[in-house]
Amino acid sequence: MKQEKILILDFGGQYNQLIARRVRECSVYCEIRPYSMPLSEIRAFAPAGIIFTGGPSSVYLPDSPKVDPGVFALGVPILGICYGCQLMAQLLGGEVTAAGADTAREYGKTRTHYDAACRLFSGLPGEGISWMSHGDYMARIPAGFRLAAHTEACPTAAIADEARGFYGVQFHPEVSHTERGTQMLRNFLYGICGCTGTWTMGDFCRRTVAQLRARIGQGRVLLALSGGVDSSVLAALLAEAVGSRLTCVFVDHGCMRKNEGDEVQAAFQKWNIHFVRVDASARFLEKLAGVTDPQEKRRVIGAEFGYVFLDEARKFGITKADFFAQGTIYPDVIESGKGDADVIKSHHNRLLPQEVIESFQAVLEPLDHLFKDEIRQLGRELGLPEYLVTRQPFPGPGLAIRILGEVTREKLDILREADAIFREEIGKSDCAAQCSQYFAVLTNARSVGVMGDGRTYDNTLALRSVTTSDFMTADWTRIPYEVLDRCSTRIVNEVKGINRVVYDITSKPPATVEWE
Ligand code: XMP
Repeated sequence: MKQEKILILDFGGQYNQLIARRVRECSVYCEIRPYSMPLSEIRAFAPAGIIFTGGPSSVYLPDSPKVDPGVFALGVPILGICYGCQLMAQLLGGEVTAAGADTAREYGKTRTHYDAACRLFSGLPGEGISWMSHGDYMARIPAGFRLAAHTEACPTAAIADEARGFYGVQFHPEVSHTERGTQMLRNFLYGICGCTGTWTMGDFCRRTVAQLRARIGQGRVLLALSGGVDSSVLAALLAEAVGSRLTCVFVDHGCMRKNEGDEVQAAFQKWNIHFVRVDASARFLEKLAGVTDPQEKRRVIGAEFGYVFLDEARKFGITKADFFAQGTIYPDVIESGKGDADVIKSHHNRLLPQEVIESFQAVLEPLDHLFKDEIRQLGRELGLPEYLVTRQPFPGPGLAIRILGEVTREKLDILREADAIFREEIGKSDCAAQCSQYFAVLTNARSVGVMGDGRTYDNTLALRSVTTSDFMTADWTRIPYEVLDRCSTRIVNEVKGINRVVYDITSKPPATVEWE
């Protein structure tokens, strides 16, 4: 059966991954591609529908991103969101201008009136809250379109050309603040594009196992296993596909949390899997000496990972018939800058040296189109134990990006102890379920304190906990004061080198989850 696919053309908006997640939640497969995707490739992709995302530019600026206008002649339904809506309006003959001081500039939650006769809003109440974020508006809508929603400030909150299947919304249906936004997307996918919802993890699993078997043939696979959710799920998937021809290599880069190496080893030795543990901490620390820039730390670690693997592979007698596999997931690909958004952080597993890549027949990244929650579903599908499936994320570069400034063995030891106390206390508390990811950060600041009768001049430790379902946006967790107090007291008393503890109360955005 042909797979139903939605194409999301990326104009650099901040919610683009959310659009993709919402579409997948509706059981429809989608991919995010740059807006500049050539028409021939769009045609070959054979989308059931296309979504234009939002973006930071203004369509009337000379260098603003544009799509090939041929896309409107493909006979494929299109939904434009925010910038994407304005772009569609402009390319089809409407007019978009900057909003004046008192007209149509809207940010945040906005009461919106919908035309329930429009297929996009079918089954929805006539009014609700939508999330707006635009400074431009459609002064004139293109021929063939009609108005389908309005707000007090903006008469053109949504437009529709039902005959051609073109829809545009000024607001963001993908953001949870928009009431029934997912229903609108569902209407587009099912009612307008004719999708039937064929994207399920069981289906993905069967298809991917078959593809991996065909691709790998009699070759062997060396998997970079960190013990985190992504690489553990990939281990299970590959074990299903090639059985004993899989070898999992766990590289301990010395920036793991307290006891983590032993825990990972214990978890995997229980399975019937060929597991190799490599202690490479000295190598990594040597390479990290003097490195203070976060992106550079990631690059150094990513590259060294590759070389450690290569050494293991050579010991193994690996040949060009064999494969290297890693648990890259979709947000790693997108955040490392494949789309049009700014590069926020380059994920270390996108940073393999060419020499490593060329030593194998190919690098396999079968999870590189899945989101985190899909990876967890896949893990369950493959029968992984719940504690592995629900582990909180831990970044590949580990504590190296939780120590601001240079990474040293001494700082790693301090951070490991403090982090273990924080995690133990949260684990015991009633608020654990609210804390999606929590850890300690060793800041590069030292401050004066007093202990006993003596002056101290020691490190400041920051505690971070976020509440989130997707890690793309996150709120800081309201941990009760008593729990924070216990953590602070224990850390200062038990960890030599820390005399001050602070709690990070910034959400993402504007901060990120990790400090580096
Ligand atoms: P940020 O800090 O970007 O983190 O808000 C979002 C999620 O991604 C994890 N993260 C990483 N994971 N390699 C990884 O494997 C990395 O370089 C990396 N940087 C951030 C982070 O822990 C959070 O869950």
